[in-house]
Amino acid sequence: MNASKLPPARILGIETSCDETAAAVVENGRTILSNVVASQTELHAKYGGIFPEVASREHIRTIYTVVEEALEQAHMALSDLDAIAATRGPGLAGSLVVGLNMAKGLALGSEKPIIGINHLEAHLYSAWLQVDDEDEPLDEPEFPILALIVSGGHTELVLVKDYLQYERLGGTLDDAAGEAFDKVGRLLELGYPGGPAIQEAAKNGDKDAFKLPRAWLEETWNFSFSGLKTAVLHTVRDLESKKKNNPLPTADLAASFQEAVVDVLVTKTRYAAQEYSVNELLVAGGVSANRSLRANIAKGAPGRVHIPPIELCTDNAAMIAAAGYYRFAHGQRDPLDIDALPTWPISEL
Ligand code: KG4
Ligand code: ZN
Repeated sequence: MNASKLPPARILGIETSCDETAAAVVENGRTILSNVVASQTELHAKYGGIFPEVASREHIRTIYTVVEEALEQAHMALSDLDAIAATRGPGLAGSLVVGLNMAKGLALGSEKPIIGINHLEAHLYSAWLQVDDEDEPLDEPEFPILALIVSGGHTELVLVKDYLQYERLGGTLDDAAGEAFDKVGRLLELGYPGGPAIQEAAKNGDKDAFKLPRAWLEETWNFSFSGLKTAVLHTVRDLESKKKNNPLPTADLAASFQEAVVDVLVTKTRYAAQEYSVNELLVAGGVSANRSLRANIAKGAPGRVHIPPIELCTDNAAMIAAAGYYRFAHGQRDPLDIDALPTWPISEL
C-alpha cells in the first residue's frame, strides 16, 4: 500500500480496552485534530491494579463526554467524519464492549461505517502520528520494520512488512514487561502504575547494585519476566530478614530491575533486527515511555529508531483512529454486530 496515494479521510477513534476512556479525531492517519484521554489511574491506584468491573462502569460514565469533547475540539460533527474506529481487542471484555457499543450507536445514527481495531496494531501506528508542537516533519518509518510492542498486557516482537502486514516473531510467555513493572512497583510500595514510579525511583539508584536474572530464551523471540519479578521478591525478603530496621534500598532495587528488563528488551530486539536484516526499529506501547529503554534502544541501533512521543506511548484513541485510517483505505468496513475479542492476537490480522 502506497500511503501517499491513499484517499484523505477523517476518522473518529474510540479506545476503552483497559483503564483509559479515550476518543480522538485524526486526519489521514497522521494529523491529530483532537485527542482526549480520561484516565482511571487514580480510581484503580487504591486497589493496586486494575479492577475490571470498576473499569467498565467508569467507561460507561465517561464515554459520552469524552467522545463529545473529541468532536468539539476537532470542530467536527459526526457528518464530517468518514468512519468510526473502535478497539475490538485485545483487552478487558467488559471495557471493550463499552467503546465498541458507543461506536456502533454513533455509526448507526450517522450512517458512517464502523471499523473494529486491534489494540496492538494501533500502538504501532502511533509512530505515524504528527504531534502538534513538533516543528520538525515526521520522521516517517519505512518498511520493513522490526517492532517491539511493550505494554501492561503485551510484550511482542513483530516484523512489520508493510501497512497492515505483520509477522509475529514472539512474545512473553508469562508476565508482560509493563505488568512486571506494575508488580514490582507494588512490591517496592511505589504505587500504581509501577512503570513511571520505578523509573522515578531508579533515577537515584545504582543499576549494578543487585545482580538480577535475565531470561534470554535463546533460539526464540519470546520473553519471560516472571522469574525476574520473583527474584526481586526474594531479594526484598532476604534484605528484610537480614537488616530488620533498615529501610529497603528501593532506588537500587528499582534501578537494577529496570536495567534487567531494558537489557532483555533491547538485546532481543536488536538481534531480531539483525536476523531479519531490518534496519528500522519501532518501539511502542506504555513501556516505550520509559527513558532508559528509549535511550538504550537508540544506542548502537542498525538504523533509525522510531518511538512515539511520550503522550502517545500509553493508551490513547489517536492511535486507534490512525490504524482505522489504513484499514478504511484498505476497504475494511465491519458489520454492526461485531463482537469484542478480548484475546485477539496480532498474528490473526
Ligand atoms: O499501553 P498501555 O498504556 O496499556 C496497555 O495496553 O497495557 O501500557 C501501560 C503499561 C503499564 O504497565 C505501565 O506501568 C507501563 O505501561 N508504563 C511504563 C512507563 N509508563 C507506563 N513502564 C515503564 N516506564 C514508564 N515510564
Ligand atoms: Zn495499550
